[in-house]
Amino acid sequence: MDIDSAVDLLNKNEKAVLSAVSSSPKFVSEVSEGLGIDRNAVLNAARKLFAGGLVRLTGEIRISYALSELGKRYLKDGLPEQLIFDNISKSGEASYSDLAKLRLDKDELNAGIGVLRRAGSIKVTNDVIRINNADSEPIRLKNALLARIADGSTVTETDDLKDMVKRKIIEKTEIVKDRVEITQEGLKALKSPNFSRESIDKLTTESIKDWKGREFREYDIDAKPPSPLSGKRHITKTFVSIIKDALVSMGFTEMQSNYAESSFWNFDVMMFRQDHPDRDIQDTVYIGGAEAKVPRDVLGRVKSVYENGFETSRNNRSIGYMAEFDEKKSRVLIMRGHTTATTFRYIRDHISKNKDSPAKFFSVGKVFRNETPDQTHLPEFYQVEGVVYDDNLNISHLIGYIKEFYSRIGMSKIRLKPTYNPYTEPSLEVQAFSKKLNKWIEVGNSGVFRPETLHPFGLDKNLVAWGFGLDRMLMVRLGLLDIRDVYGAFADLDLLRSVETSKLFGEQ
Ligand code: PHE
Repeated sequence: MDIDSAVDLLNKNEKAVLSAVSSSPKFVSEVSEGLGIDRNAVLNAARKLFAGGLVRLTGEIRISYALSELGKRYLKDGLPEQLIFDNISKSGEASYSDLAKLRLDKDELNAGIGVLRRAGSIKVTNDVIRINNADSEPIRLKNALLARIADGSTVTETDDLKDMVKRKIIEKTEIVKDRVEITQEGLKALKSPNFSRESIDKLTTESIKDWKGREFREYDIDAKPPSPLSGKRHITKTFVSIIKDALVSMGFTEMQSNYAESSFWNFDVMMFRQDHPDRDIQDTVYIGGAEAKVPRDVLGRVKSVYENGFETSRNNRSIGYMAEFDEKKSRVLIMRGHTTATTFRYIRDHISKNKDSPAKFFSVGKVFRNETPDQTHLPEFYQVEGVVYDDNLNISHLIGYIKEFYSRIGMSKIRLKPTYNPYTEPSLEVQAFSKKLNKWIEVGNSGVFRPETLHPFGLDKNLVAWGFGLDRMLMVRLGLLDIRDVYGAFADLDLLRSVETSKLFGEQ
């Protein structure tokens, strides 16, 4: 852009600031005072001029000193060293208990004595303090310094000054000043014939009414506006909606249950051994002070399968754990560690009550584990759970559902690996490929429920089910290295503000 057109883009404030610094560099506050315009307006104008290369902005640090409340009191009543010195001077010596009568607290007394000792003005032997050098000049200089600071005179940074800053008698502040200095381009702009051309700066009702024959300031239509910050839905919430939509479109119905759960629904019903390490305080969040209510009938049947197994046919039988089942452990109240607790509540309330109808349920909900947060773990995270009940289901159906679900949310690149679960057999771990990280990441776990877990509900058909870690899936979709970038105190706000929802759509 040539200089004349650049000048056409300047508004009144910008022109005024440029003229103000034409003969010598000035601080923003000086320009503001000189022109009678607000400091921020000057700063904005200066920044615009800077962006156009018409001025340079340089920071300069100015140090200023002022008396603290303590300093003001000392200026009036005397510094501790002064009071102590005067007191001892009267008789040439004093004891600590004599000095205790001065209106000084312990710290002030010690500071004062320390200062006088280091200056060689006094000598302390045992409890007796004597004058060593009767010259009161050093104290007089300090008083003078306090007085200079009080009346705003300039001072140099002497040892006395540093000492009094340390003792909080004097406050030191550093102020950064913005200095505006005109450039060669800026000088050319001032000389441009367009500089003094009268033009209408702002569109107002008045200026629009009376516009004929008048000139308007040009607008730079290529200028980037500042991006306003506004409220935004957290990316996780959008991901939750996408996942729910996919499952609903596959014919699933949503299930829900509470965060607080009994160990019975979280563990026992799934035949976790009662001494299973998952029940450890390290992994489970316990709620103290109350016991959970557990339905008697289901509890009795689970206990019986646990202890003695069952047999409905040669192909559907188990010997159980042949170990004692402790009902007290079932009533221990915890925060649910997986949404499979919810699945089993639905198995009792819906599936076992309509044994002849196929059923497909899902849930997306929070679960809690007593974990220290790290790159891939959070103590509180979302699980995507699904369960299917129908005739003749087997592991191929499970694989089919998992693949279909992942392809519907645009994450087709997944693989399955055999794994172990106390309540499913066979069991499959689900891994998704992260393009950004160029590696496979575990995103979930699944399987066919063991007959022992279904017998207490009178079910003998296969049920296939899964639990996926929604946050892990989010990491893959967004290419995150650290899950804490999106949650908690160290979340990356710029990322959360700028991340585009479109990242969650389409094939990843
Ligand atoms: N509950 C399992 C987990 O938390 C997931 C799962 C659900 C596995 C259902 C098998 C069947 O990882």
